[in-house]
Amino acid sequence: MSPVLNSSAVYAKRRAAIGRALLKAGGGVALLPTAPELPRNRDSDFPYRHDSYFYYLTGFSEPGAWLAVEASGKTVKSTLFCRPKDLEREIWDGIRLGPDAAPGLLGLDAAFSLDSLDQKMPELLANQPAVWFPFATHKGLETQVDGWLNQVRARVRLGAECPQSQHDLCKLLDEMRLVKDAHEIAILRRAGAISAGAHVRAMQTSAAMLRRQAAGGLREYHLEAELLHEFRRHGAEFPAYTSIVAAGANACVLHYRAGNAELKPGQLCLIDAGCELEGYASDITRTFPADGKFTPAQRILYDIVQASQEAAIEATRPGNRFSDPHNAATRVLVEGMLDTGLLAKARHGSVDDVLESGAYRQFYMHRTGHWMGMDVHDCGDYTEPGSPLQPEKDALGQSVMRKPSRILKPGMVLTIEPGLYVRPAKGVPKKFWDIGIRIEDDALVTARGCELMTRGVPVKADEIEALMRT
Ligand code: GLY
Ligand code: MN
Ligand code: MN
Repeated sequence: MSPVLNSSAVYAKRRAAIGRALLKAGGGVALLPTAPELPRNRDSDFPYRHDSYFYYLTGFSEPGAWLAVEASGKTVKSTLFCRPKDLEREIWDGIRLGPDAAPGLLGLDAAFSLDSLDQKMPELLANQPAVWFPFATHKGLETQVDGWLNQVRARVRLGAECPQSQHDLCKLLDEMRLVKDAHEIAILRRAGAISAGAHVRAMQTSAAMLRRQAAGGLREYHLEAELLHEFRRHGAEFPAYTSIVAAGANACVLHYRAGNAELKPGQLCLIDAGCELEGYASDITRTFPADGKFTPAQRILYDIVQASQEAAIEATRPGNRFSDPHNAATRVLVEGMLDTGLLAKARHGSVDDVLESGAYRQFYMHRTGHWMGMDVHDCGDYTEPGSPLQPEKDALGQSVMRKPSRILKPGMVLTIEPGLYVRPAKGVPKKFWDIGIRIEDDALVTARGCELMTRGVPVKADEIEALMRT
């Protein structure tokens, strides 16, 4: 990988790349707004988070901004629209960069006040072959673009030509974002390290609180507070998604939130939490005994999930397909389900029979990973572009026509997150009831295999127990 560039050069390089992609596709203008501010109630807004595509191309995180990239002939020109300087508003809401300073600081060709957007956009669109913008991502954007195109049409008698076609800009940007550059990888590693530290802190707090207060007093929100403390202490801006802190049976609810349930000795705690740092996510799950010691039944299932994750990690390497880690993990989980009696061999048959019938979905109902980057569930096709459709079975076992799964390449980042979730049910050994386990790490595909960016927190049962004794 090349060395990390200074940041305005990083974004300029990405805009040049998108410009080349536009030129290759016949040229035109790409338009991209950032995210709007969202009111929470009365004078309070939700914490502001920029649009990921916009930030990817600008590194600019103020609200009220647009980027236009013109690619025609052989040239590429980037123009920013941003909020004008306004002393009164800046006293209340904070400093604005403003259009005068923006080109120098962000390495853009030009910048204008947001107030001039409706006047300048039709000028940028006139005589361009095509307009590109993200489809179905910003409410009202299509209507806004229609309005500007209508203004261009109103000038055709004066010689202006209107773009003939509209294309989805996401298609180009998703492919670029799927393979992370050196700047992104450096941030993802730091985000992973901070989140790993937060999980360590939560595990140690859990054991320490239960040692101090054997009679109770530890609740899910106590551990959520430890996570948030650790994220912010290291400068991470937000949690990358709503943290899950699940005591005991709550772990079997896949999208459970940190609530106020009590954590008792003898129970497992599942934490799925990661910070967002400088616009990049991390996504870690660990499952640990609240008091620091696995029960024999918990340990049996934990070791199966851990072995399945190891198999998935082994399958995460360039040339393999995105589906290979899932298939590897599922096979190990199914072996475990049959060995432990979660699935009765007499009824369900062999490992291959269970993989074919899908009976394992009673205990493992999600995929083993997803792309990760600026968004925790990041953009990028999961099937191989340009490949022909072929018959396949979908997640519910139905036959569908699909392109084959995506071939992994160095620079792609994905999570590896197998689990087992045992709800009480007839025929399921009682000792396993209400145990929910997931283990999740973030993997960067490298030249020879993968690098786990989140292993600052232990994963083996013995290592977790040792950590929780300290
Ligand atoms: N934390 C979201 C996920 O694991 O997909
Ligand atoms: Mn995940
Ligand atoms: Mn997760």
